[in-house]
Amino acid sequence: MLGETDLETLLESLHPVVRDGDYVYALWPHGKALEGDVEAAVREAEGLTVVLRREEADRLGLAYDFVAAWITLQIHSALEAVGLTAAVSAALTHAGISCNVLAGFHHDHLLVPVAEVGRAMDVLQLLSRGIVLRTERPEDRDEILELTARAFSVSPVTGQPVEGTPMEVGLLKSLFECDEYIPELSIVAEIGGDIVGHAISTRGWIGDLELVALGPIGVVPTLQRRGIGSALMRESAARATAAGEPGIALLGSPLYYPRFGYVPATSLGVQPPQAAWGEHFQLLPLPAWPDGVRGTFRYAAPFDRV
Ligand SMILES: CC(C)(COP(=O)(O)OP(=O)(O)OC[C@H]1O[C@@H](n2cnc3c(N)ncnc32)[C@H](O)[C@@H]1OP(=O)(O)O)[C@@H](O)C(=O)NCCC(=O)NCCS
Repeated sequence: MLGETDLETLLESLHPVVRDGDYVYALWPHGKALEGDVEAAVREAEGLTVVLRREEADRLGLAYDFVAAWITLQIHSALEAVGLTAAVSAALTHAGISCNVLAGFHHDHLLVPVAEVGRAMDVLQLLSRGIVLRTERPEDRDEILELTARAFSVSPVTGQPVEGTPMEVGLLKSLFECDEYIPELSIVAEIGGDIVGHAISTRGWIGDLELVALGPIGVVPTLQRRGIGSALMRESAARATAAGEPGIALLGSPLYYPRFGYVPATSLGVQPPQAAWGEHFQLLPLPAWPDGVRGTFRYAAPFDRV
């Protein structure tokens, strides 16, 4: 059977599947006959590299550092297919996930750090639908502001159409310029080079404790309810966690954000900047969340002007 060569078809039908177990790369001892259950091997002038299950490496007494999850792209890709590997590794690189690619006769295989497999699968599922998440670049800003104007043309608070430019546009403009802006926490979702979603998180405080506040987040109205907002929420949390941030605060619907782990801030001893916000002011505690936090949350300066 001939493999699939059209890149778009390949991306649409990636079908990533995680293989059971953990895998490692190891150097095979020089001069020793190959034995055991080796999944892949590469011979180089310097020696033989083998990829095998972690417990098999342990049984054979092989040393390793990198412990990986193994993802198989179930599409039967022609070996000559141009661009599949590049598209997959570019999307994973944008997400800050390192990846080793092995090409078999039938499929491509990705070895990603075991702790990143959930995020890698999210990235691949989005890529199958043509969606890439990446850090905002300054030249994206006009497009992001336009997208924000469209996303907030109906007020999320009243459900009524907004007259003129929604206030989130001016807020976002100021957030791009302020001291509390954190470049890697301004994230866009892109389809075919068009920006279709954006989420920003900026510096905020509870007393002396630095954390971040998420918002505004917006997705173009025509593409809402297809998982793009959820992907931006998960990516924001993953990046904030990786940066060692203790938590993320936001003002938003108690029906939407708890699915990402947000809880009413007051349940963690944190008061909203305005008492009337009540349960709408929410917090996601991250692994670095310290014990004994008490106080009132303070947003970046531009929020004081809206
Ligand atoms: C909120 C927003 C970013 C979500 O993005 P999205 O891509 O549409 O979201 P997803 O497809 O990942 O998730 C859709 C789910 O969220 C729910 N949802 C989205 N916004 C919601 C809200 N304000 N209240 C309750 N539920 C909401 C949908 O009902 C849907 O639920 P379901 O899967 O159970 O049917 C997007 O709808 C948007 O831009 N809205 C206008 C701007 C806005 O309100 N921003 C948030 C306030 S800062």
